[in-house]
Amino acid sequence: KTDTLLSLLDGQPVIPVLKIDNVADAVPLARALAKGGLRAIEITLRTADALEAIRRVIGEVEDAIVGAGTILDPRHFEQAAKAGSKFIVSPGVTRELLVAASDSPVPLLPGAITPGEIMTARDAGLDFLKFFPAEQAGGAAFLKALASPFAGIRFCPTGGVSAGNAASYLALPNVICVGGSWVAPDDMVKAGDWAGIEALAREATGLRKA
Ligand code: 3PG
Repeated sequence: KTDTLLSLLDGQPVIPVLKIDNVADAVPLARALAKGGLRAIEITLRTADALEAIRRVIGEVEDAIVGAGTILDPRHFEQAAKAGSKFIVSPGVTRELLVAASDSPVPLLPGAITPGEIMTARDAGLDFLKFFPAEQAGGAAFLKALASPFAGIRFCPTGGVSAGNAASYLALPNVICVGGSWVAPDDMVKAGDWAGIEALAREATGLRKA
């Protein structure tokens, strides 16, 4: 399933992490991000309308590749998969979530920081993980130290990643892409500044891995 996930991302260097407070924003936001080159997006299940937002974007934004985030348990996984999510992101690993993922064709990108968490995910056959919360947990230096013991494991660092530090993560051999909310700042979403968000997305797209 890592292959499925990688082909969905298709070299995209940044996955926007979105918290949709107003469901009417979802479609224009996804459109602006896709226009700027960020087609794969993560809509987090942190707001009441998140599932509706996922459905609307899937229905109306042809270019978008919609994943669901902040999936904490199998019930969330099921709801997000049923809404049509192409991939599922969780902040951490639990046995229950790993079982739900193994029963589903929808790929899971689970969070892991510690060697033990990484080994739990690896035991479940997963080799592409979300390193979360990246900056707070030790940043690029921490992630770099994981490359040698976990040679086959690659990461999407997320949490505190921004235009200013994304390149330092993308330069690591065990990083495929980064995730972050900086490409869709709350104030710009609220103001409906879709052109501004498209510009941020285009800048993020330019961070492409060497
Ligand atoms: C996430 O859930 O991945 C994070 O909230 C994103 O972190 P950021 O807001 O620091 O980019």
